Amino acid sequence: MRDIQSIDDLRRRAKRRLPAMVYDFIEGGALDELTLRRNREALEAQLLPQRVLVDTSQRHATASILGTRLDLPLVVSPMGLLTVCHPDADVAIARAAATSGSVFVHSPWSGCSLEEVTDAAPGRVWAQIAFWNDSSETERHIDRAEALGVETLVVAGDVAVSSKRDRDLRHGSGMPPRPPLRDVVDTAFHPGWVLRWLLGRRITWGTYRIDGRAIRMSEMDAWMDRNTNQAASWDDIARLRSRWKGNLVVKGVMTQADARLAIDHGTDGVFVSNHGGRQFDGQLATIEALPSVVDAVDGRAAVIMDGGIRRGSDIAKALSLGADAAAAGRPFALGLAAAGRPGVERAFDVLHDELLTVMGFLGVTRIEGLPESLCASHDLSDGIEAAR
Ligand SMILES: Cc1cc2nc3c(=O)[nH]c(=O)nc-3n(C[C@H](O)[C@H](O)[C@H](O)COP(=O)(O)O)c2cc1C
Repeated sequence: MRDIQSIDDLRRRAKRRLPAMVYDFIEGGALDELTLRRNREALEAQLLPQRVLVDTSQRHATASILGTRLDLPLVVSPMGLLTVCHPDADVAIARAAATSGSVFVHSPWSGCSLEEVTDAAPGRVWAQIAFWNDSSETERHIDRAEALGVETLVVAGDVAVSSKRDRDLRHGSGMPPRPPLRDVVDTAFHPGWVLRWLLGRRITWGTYRIDGRAIRMSEMDAWMDRNTNQAASWDDIARLRSRWKGNLVVKGVMTQADARLAIDHGTDGVFVSNHGGRQFDGQLATIEALPSVVDAVDGRAAVIMDGGIRRGSDIAKALSLGADAAAAGRPFALGLAAAGRPGVERAFDVLHDELLTVMGFLGVTRIEGLPESLCASHDLSDGIEAAR
């Protein structure tokens, strides 16, 4: 894969291989995609202070988060419906995460079951759960996670409201999809994808079942309409906390108020995320929200941040601003679409190498040595401060 030197190279290859409706499902965001773009722009605006003449010959990026040792401080964010990218979907990503010394967060909206991914990557899977209207469904999910030895639950905090994603609506994406003619034609021009789709797993919903069988694509929308819980609250977190003995993380925390509530409700981790700009458009970038969340958490829980991580230097920026680990979604979905499991492994390798390189320029040999402040491009005095 010599032609894949960056996550953007993987994106380009994935774009060639996927029908436009699938590519847009992965890459797109809500409404005007302001927050999607802002995640990148705000990361790009952060600058790192170069140091010179420091012995950095022995660098490593190992880290530890919630009792799990990582070869690099990067976790795979939960992503639903990756079966549209590649039939191996979450299983391929979970395996790649395990061989790369990372952790895979399984999504309740995944096309693969929690059992499949824990089997593929034992000890390297965290489980995301959602508070469904039918609470026994959530309970069963937690029981399964417990039985499978999953140590960390990640609560989906920002899914009570369905977002509007214009790109998906234009493609007629839904469950089942109703694509316009131009998408049918475009899909026909991607015979590799069609073949993989026909020969590979059928797109079902991996985690939940109706009458003991997998939920079919045609049934997903109705299931969601029935079960999406718009009344989920911190009371649910309190109940979960008293029942779940493992690590508990809340995903979607973007404010100090929610960070404090998460701490008050006994969570072990706060996941700073705006869903990669896919849910609520017009809010801060995660790297902008991170420092105030870190302040509110004040060392009482682990902090993870995702949204726009595309370079190793982005991981360094998130950690310098107080995150204990970064996370990413699209880079791995794009790797999967570009080349299956090897594509995901390539994404990890690229980000790992880039992180080690930037650590060299920062004059640090371990993650703990990363600078504790950065400079935004519009305020050079911060940079001078950070360099002192
Ligand atoms: C295709 C796709 C599906 C996603 N599904 C979920 C999901 O099931 N649960 C969730 O909490 N977030 C979901 N997300 C958001 C990711 O967990 C993560 O927050 C986001 O991708 C981070 O931004 P990045 O893609 O720029 O790294 C999804 C993202 C993508 C791209």
